[in-house]
Amino acid sequence: MEQFKGQPRLPKFAVPKRYDIRLKPDLISCKFAGTVAVDVDVVADTLFIVLNAADLSVDSASVSFTDRNSSEVFRPSKVELLEEDEILVLEFAETLPIGVGVLAIGFEGILNDKMKGFYRSTYEHNGEKKNMAVTQFEPADARRCFPCWDEPACKATFKITLDVPSDLASLSNMPAIEEKVDGHLKTVSYQESPIMSTYLVAIVVGLFDYVEDHTSDGIKVRVYGQVGKANQGKFALHVAVKTLELYKEYFEVPYPLPKLDMIAIPDFAAGAMENYGLVTYRETALLYDDQHSAAANKQRVATVVAHELAHQWFGNLVTMEWWTHLWLNEGFATWVSYLATDSLFPEWKVWTQFLDESVEGLRLDGLEESHPIEVEINHASEIDEIFDAISYRKGASVIRMLQSYLGAEPFQRSLASYIKKHAYSNAKTEDLWDALEEGSGEPVNRLMNSWTKQQGYPVVSVKVKDQKLEFEQSRFLSSGSHGDGQWIVPITLCCGSYDKCKSFLLEAKSETLYVNEFLGCSISGDRNSATCSWIKLNVDQAGFYRVKYDEQLAARLRYAIEKNDLSATDRFGILDDSFALCMARQQSFVSLLTLMSAYREELEYTVLSNLITISHKLVRIAADAVPELLDLIKLFFIGLFQNAAEKLGWQPKAGESHLDAMLRGEVLTALAVFGHEPTLTEASRRFHAFLDDRNTPLLPPDIRKAAYVAVMLTANASNRSDNESLLGVYRESDLSQEKTRILGSLASCPDPTIILEVLNFLLSSEVRSQDAVFGLAVGIEGREVAWTWLKDNWEHISKTWGSGFLITRFVSAIVSPFATFEKVKDIEEFFASRTKPSIARTLKQSIERVNINAKWVQSVQSESLLLYSN
Ligand code: BES
Ligand code: ZN
Repeated sequence: MEQFKGQPRLPKFAVPKRYDIRLKPDLISCKFAGTVAVDVDVVADTLFIVLNAADLSVDSASVSFTDRNSSEVFRPSKVELLEEDEILVLEFAETLPIGVGVLAIGFEGILNDKMKGFYRSTYEHNGEKKNMAVTQFEPADARRCFPCWDEPACKATFKITLDVPSDLASLSNMPAIEEKVDGHLKTVSYQESPIMSTYLVAIVVGLFDYVEDHTSDGIKVRVYGQVGKANQGKFALHVAVKTLELYKEYFEVPYPLPKLDMIAIPDFAAGAMENYGLVTYRETALLYDDQHSAAANKQRVATVVAHELAHQWFGNLVTMEWWTHLWLNEGFATWVSYLATDSLFPEWKVWTQFLDESVEGLRLDGLEESHPIEVEINHASEIDEIFDAISYRKGASVIRMLQSYLGAEPFQRSLASYIKKHAYSNAKTEDLWDALEEGSGEPVNRLMNSWTKQQGYPVVSVKVKDQKLEFEQSRFLSSGSHGDGQWIVPITLCCGSYDKCKSFLLEAKSETLYVNEFLGCSISGDRNSATCSWIKLNVDQAGFYRVKYDEQLAARLRYAIEKNDLSATDRFGILDDSFALCMARQQSFVSLLTLMSAYREELEYTVLSNLITISHKLVRIAADAVPELLDLIKLFFIGLFQNAAEKLGWQPKAGESHLDAMLRGEVLTALAVFGHEPTLTEASRRFHAFLDDRNTPLLPPDIRKAAYVAVMLTANASNRSDNESLLGVYRESDLSQEKTRILGSLASCPDPTIILEVLNFLLSSEVRSQDAVFGLAVGIEGREVAWTWLKDNWEHISKTWGSGFLITRFVSAIVSPFATFEKVKDIEEFFASRTKPSIARTLKQSIERVNINAKWVQSVQSESLLLYSN
């Protein structure tokens, strides 16, 4: 038995071909009983069968081999469940015969409240609290529902049968083919699935309503929600039908199953899960209410649906061979969800918004505690943590970089051939590169290995010297340190206009180009050729790298921004690179502020939204570094957003764009946070109108968050009425998006007494455990309260959220905003005896962020001293 302990993967002397699973969940006692009969192919002489199981009690086990003449049953001499390794070892007294046998196991388990495995979620029906039974198996929790070979490469077919209360609906991956009612119970059997991985198996049992439609080739699509909420599923239904049709074209393979169900689950740890044919969602990611959802909510629903449906091909039909290749699933689905959303809603300009994904990838990957896209996984407990910005956002960004390098058409063709080649099977990162290399004739393997096998990314410095452009790459680190690494960087550049663009691969550390030869123009007044007014690298921000310009080039770009000569994506990129360089202390604080003032006329949603994000971070640093200048800096930002605020106003304009609707809320929130009095007053007026009448036109959903934040900013312990009214709205609303909006506003209050009350509220039964992390958005004043609260409540928090990835959000949200070396010590001391594998990486990253902030504070301080002394 010892030989099976501590192994990252199961031994493969017996492999599953088909599972026949029968489950009987009891929604009152929250237990379930089950049997599984697995067709296993014994491929080598063995005394053992080893498969995964966890939190189950096994009642019986046997393997039988039947041929034409006889049947032989083998009963294990020993059955042992090794909890640590999450495996079930069956030992037999004699060697099992080679060939296909049937492994039968009877077992029992608990419908847990941890939102993984086979779990219970709760809801109210006619004023009565009820349980539903739901599964969430990715990454490695199918083993908590039935014993199985719980690895993505162990694909098999699944035949599922459920014994459930006859008044409830029950769903699984495939359509039901038979339903037998027997009094209070019914037995529902489902059609056998095509071969698939265990992490994609799903079951839901509860009370639901649904809306239904079908694709042009007859796939039945349904959206399920709580009773009475079916209409809120209509938007997602529309997106799903259109997206299925689009992916069929794009992948050149039809949707592989006879039906698609999508269902909103009230308690759900992730955002959504792509179970084959039965996609599960948080309510906020699936339901859209015409009256009370915001434009941002609508966009979220569309992108999440597009993401999960992409997995039906990329992930479910073709599955990663091992978790090391998780990024293939998540990076690709993230990228392609933008393709689908853009095709459905071109006016949302989601490819500009894609830059939000890239910068989150760049920010995380700028840490020394980052990891390569392809990461070694040795234990199931390590998988959760790689569902992070590296796998999703850097993954999606390097795919975008590659697509833009190869061209949309060859990229799509090669992808379709990859899907066809590996359908109903598994693939590794190299398999995708091989397909793209074959389809494009470009050295894709060589190019992409530098991006997926090594962590980090380059900053490319450009300088002009004697009509020459000098390029140099080095690893970018937010800490300002020098790192190792070299990448094959697809460099693009435009000169003075978007008609004059060039590209080359930067393979060496550095490279020099003659401007005149390469670009056909000169940089400063050369009489024989046209002068180009600016040079922008990384055109459209398609590449996953940063650019550092010399002073002359930077000044020209600033001027080009003021003259509105650059695209929104490029304006975004120049700003974000400059911010990152400032934080890494490679550029002064003042020069960043100077650049920011070039954005006074900015009205593009994505650019302004990032400008706002950056302003918040700068205010936070200024509060620590130069508190005496804080008010001045806030005034500067207020001035920066004034133009946009005036153009947008508070009241939506008839027929205005989706992006303006989203922008208004963000701009007003920023003005409120920076202390703009007229905004605070108007917010209060509108909030009170809303309290009097929930349907007042004065507070449409898109500006509610702004008003809530403003109201909380002015609340304090001796004037609680607004604070209490807001909690009242939270309690009365049955729309998750409204609740989330309120949770995200509460902690912005500067009063420590209220902040503490808010944080404690997050631990109460009034907040579902899936939502508590939204309430951690404290302002500068709240940091200390939150840290003390985290320490005081760590045991409870760790017990409640410690078995999933949500725990990491507590750590990063509360630890990262600090900016002193003393705090680093404090944090390290506290966690020294409390760290565990599931938070280890996040904790290191958060501490690194505090160190970076602290160094930045010092440099801003010395810069301001210099200013004073001049
Ligand atoms: N496969 C994931 C769900 C998941 C996440 C399972 C983490 C296990 C751990 C799903 O496809 C997904 O990526 N969901 C995202 C939403 C998406 C639109 C980015 C999520 O849950 O945030
Ligand atoms: Zn995904």
